[in-house]
Amino acid sequence: FCPVFLPSLPAGCSRGLPLPELGSLRSAFSVARTSSMEGGPKMTVTFDTVYVNIGGDFDAKSGLFRCRIPGAYYFSFTVGKFPHKDLSVMLMKNRNEVQAIVYEENAGEERKSQSVMLQLEFGDTVWLRLHGDPRYALYSNTGHYTTFNGYLVYPDDNIPLSAFSVGRTQSIVGVNQLGMPQHQPVSFDTAFVNIGEDFNVTEGVFTCRIPGAYFFSFNVGKMPQKTLSVKLMKNRLEVQAMIYDDSQGEKALQSQSLMLSLKPGDTVWLYSHQRDGFGAYSNHAKYITFTGFLIYPDFPATTATTNTATSQSYADKKP
Ligand SMILES: *[C@@H]1O[C@H](CO)[C@@H](O)[C@H](O)[C@H]1NC(C)=O
Repeated sequence: FCPVFLPSLPAGCSRGLPLPELGSLRSAFSVARTSSMEGGPKMTVTFDTVYVNIGGDFDAKSGLFRCRIPGAYYFSFTVGKFPHKDLSVMLMKNRNEVQAIVYEENAGEERKSQSVMLQLEFGDTVWLRLHGDPRYALYSNTGHYTTFNGYLVYPDDNIPLSAFSVGRTQSIVGVNQLGMPQHQPVSFDTAFVNIGEDFNVTEGVFTCRIPGAYFFSFNVGKMPQKTLSVKLMKNRLEVQAMIYDDSQGEKALQSQSLMLSLKPGDTVWLYSHQRDGFGAYSNHAKYITFTGFLIYPDFPATTATTNTATSQSYADKKP
């Protein structure tokens, strides 16, 4: 198949779209705010620095991204915490909260990031909302502590692609339980996006259907008094671990991302340590999220040269 999002189509690939039309299927923004903002009646976070605004879909003055091309978009944002203030910033789709960064006053770290993929229709807006109480504030300065990015990953188009973004509304609390299966995947209950249906939400497992390079990111909250230990797994191998061992800390939030090369049947999933003393915090789908999408499919010419030997032995094992 011929992915429309590639800058140049592979030889022999034609989707029947004239080039100007392909070029118009682009939307991306990256903006920053160089001053702090205190909670008040005007809750939309606005921006004064525009790095990228392809398609002009982001209005920095109003702080609104407005969808022009229906499709699946990836959003990420980073906010700074103002000293001696609380921080509560929500990613909003129209008037609905999708994802939040919330901190208590005594939380130590100063900057936090979150990311999610959303399916948008024409006219949908995506924006950041700061809590309206003056007790809350976000910190930013010319170091551009507060940034907001988004881009169109797949336009709506009947191409068989692969993308998911899921959330979990329940915290995970590890317990010592004899006979419990080791290495159970973290399961989810909310699907923001599941293009191609390659992610089994109840099972918590992504199974690769289209070989290629995939981008994955996950966000997990830390439970007070618990150790956070969440790992990104490919088949039965741990590829990235998030371990946070400060047991007196508040509900700190951690994010990680990476890219993996996958073959059909490969599985990718999150594992949270299931023993007593371990835990991960979640609340209304806002803290544990997991996103992944195909960036570049392998083309027939290149699949023969990718390393099939090393991961072959894991391909038939399911978690
Ligand atoms: C998800 O996995 C469960 C358990 O393996 C299975 O029963 C269910 O049918 C799967 N759901 C889908 C949509 O494939």
